Order: sequence, then C-alpha cells, then structure tokens
Amino acid sequence: MNYQTFRPKKASYDMDTSLLRAVPSTPKPLPSSENVITRTIAVTSGKGGVGKSTISVNMAISLAKMDMKVLLIDGDLGLANINVLMGIIPEYNIYDVIQGKKDLSEIIISTNFGIDIIAGANGISQLADITRKQRQSFLKQMEDCTGYDVVLVDTGAGVGANVMGLVLATDEVLVVTTPEPTAVTDAYGMIKSIVAHNPQTSIRLIVNRVLSALEAKRVADRLKSISSQFLNASVESLGFVFEETLVQKSIRSQKPHVTLFPNSKSAACIRHIGTKVGSNSKLIQGDGLRGFFHKLTGGNTDEPLGILT
Ligand SMILES: Nc1ncnc2c1ncn2[C@@H]1O[C@H](COP(=O)(O)OP(=O)(O)OP(=O)(O)O)[C@@H](O)[C@H]1O
Ligand SMILES: [Mg+2]
Repeated sequence: MNYQTFRPKKASYDMDTSLLRAVPSTPKPLPSSENVITRTIAVTSGKGGVGKSTISVNMAISLAKMDMKVLLIDGDLGLANINVLMGIIPEYNIYDVIQGKKDLSEIIISTNFGIDIIAGANGISQLADITRKQRQSFLKQMEDCTGYDVVLVDTGAGVGANVMGLVLATDEVLVVTTPEPTAVTDAYGMIKSIVAHNPQTSIRLIVNRVLSALEAKRVADRLKSISSQFLNASVESLGFVFEETLVQKSIRSQKPHVTLFPNSKSAACIRHIGTKVGSNSKLIQGDGLRGFFHKLTGGNTDEPLGILT
C-alpha cells in the first residue's frame, strides 16, 4: 500500500477533563492507494434510538482490528454523537473544507481506537447548497483520500430527505431495528423507501437489543418475508446484538464497549457482524468516498442535490 502526504489530525488525551481532544500532535500518514476499493456503508434505521451510533462505532473498531482501514462519518444531521461515544471533541467539520478554510486532512480525526472519524454533521447538510466550483474543489480533495477499505456512515433515523440522501449515496445499507413492533414497522418503512428509490441497493438487517438469538431470528425472518412478499426485495440478515447493561455502561464512560468490555456478549455479537461485513469486501465494487460525496452533492448535474434540501 502506498503512503502519501495526506495526514489526519490525531486526537490526543486531555488528562484534565478525561476527554479526548482533537488537537494537532504527530499525525500518522493516511494510507492511499489507487488499488484499494473503498466500500461505503450506511448504518440507518426507521425508528430513532435503536442503536445505530453504538453499532457504527463498535463495528468500525472491529473492522479496524481486522486490519481494515476504516473511516467513520457522523451523518446524523440532528445530534452528532459519534465523537461523544468516543470522548472526542472535534474542532471542525466538512463545511470548513467546502469553504476552503480547512483541508480534508485537518477535519479527519485519527482516534486512539484505530479508526479515523469525520465528526459532526453540520457540514453535510450544507453540501446541498455549495456552488459548482466549491463542489469541484471538494471532490478533488476526496480523490486524495483513497486508502480506506470501508467508510461507515452513521445516519439519523427515518425516511426524511437528509437521511435518504446519505443512504442512497452509499454502496450498501445496514438497517438497524430492535424487536419492538414500532421499530420493526419503521424498519420496514425504511426498506420500502430505499427500494422505491433504488431497488438494486444491498440491504442488510441488524437486530439490536435482543434477549435471545431466537428473538432476533423471528424479527429478521418477519422483515425478510414481508420485504420479499410486498416489495419483491431481498433483504439479508447480518446478525444481532444482545441487550446488555455493559453497553450503557460503556456509553457513560465514553469508551466503545468492544474496547472496554471485549469479553462481553454484545462485543462478541459486534465482532461477528464485523467479520461478516469485512468478509465480503472483495465481492462488492464500491464507488468509493469520492463517489459517495459526488452523489451527495448532485452527481453529474450542475444543480445542487435536491434530495438534501
Ligand atoms: N445492545 C444494547 N444493549 C443495551 N442498551 C443499548 C444497546 N444498544 C443501544 N442501547 C441503548 O440505546 C441508546 C441509543 O443508542 P444509539 O444512540 O446508538 O441509538 P441511535 O439509533 O444512534 O439513536 P438516534 O436515532 O438518536 O441517532 C443508547 O444510549 C443505549 O442506552
Ligand atoms: Mg445515532
């Protein structure tokens, strides 16, 4: 793998506040290789609060432990919290890059957990309003950012334009639900919306907060069956995560549970999901990070992307 000058900002530990702050230190080079195919994967849901951000952060770390180079983007336009889950205080966001105030390397934070993140989503909502010139210069910077194996995008919930914009710009979609009937109904609504916009999208399910493997299977089977029957869509089951108080404990300590409680049942579930996601990396040809932002900012049209507005 080639290494080049693209350097993310390194998060360092602040002893006074016990929070990781995004301050410059000795940054390590970001790998960049024309040969790496970057897969972009959205983690989304119909209902809010089902565990998308928790799963995104922990799965990203699991993938990194499998020697994959991972970038996690916080795409929740409401409340950004990827950084909070990792105890990181970001200084800048994507909008600073679009405005030309910062380079991409200055907003990508290299964390102590083995993954890079783009924290805070304020900039993403403004991608809809950028000029053609700004878009071109932004996409040009994306061309230098080719070394990631996987880009995970943690979205907000629901089928609103902002979330759908992110979901439809990625190569693959992971839909998270809990066993609660309201969450399952909303997960179906999300699948329906994705299929309506792009029937070719690869959609896979994660059932979070289950009490047993059987409960997870029942939920996944039900969603797979109604998606097949009413939408003619093939939805795959990716796995489940047990309900566990250690997950909440790790959120309170702002340290992901795969790191804090690696021997917990929920961490094992996440690793299992990560292995499945990682194992088909060679099967899918992704459009890459540039493709993702290209779609998000209006594709080949000269107009800003309507879906985000
Ligand atoms: N496996 C689990 N076991 C126990 N509690 C969990 C588990 N997963 C998530 N939670 C709880 O659910 C809460 C919401 O999780 P999270 O913030 O990841 O959801 P989200 O889908 O990203 O929410 P939003 O839609 O607001 O972005 C967590 O703060 C935690 O308390
Ligand atoms: Mg979230």
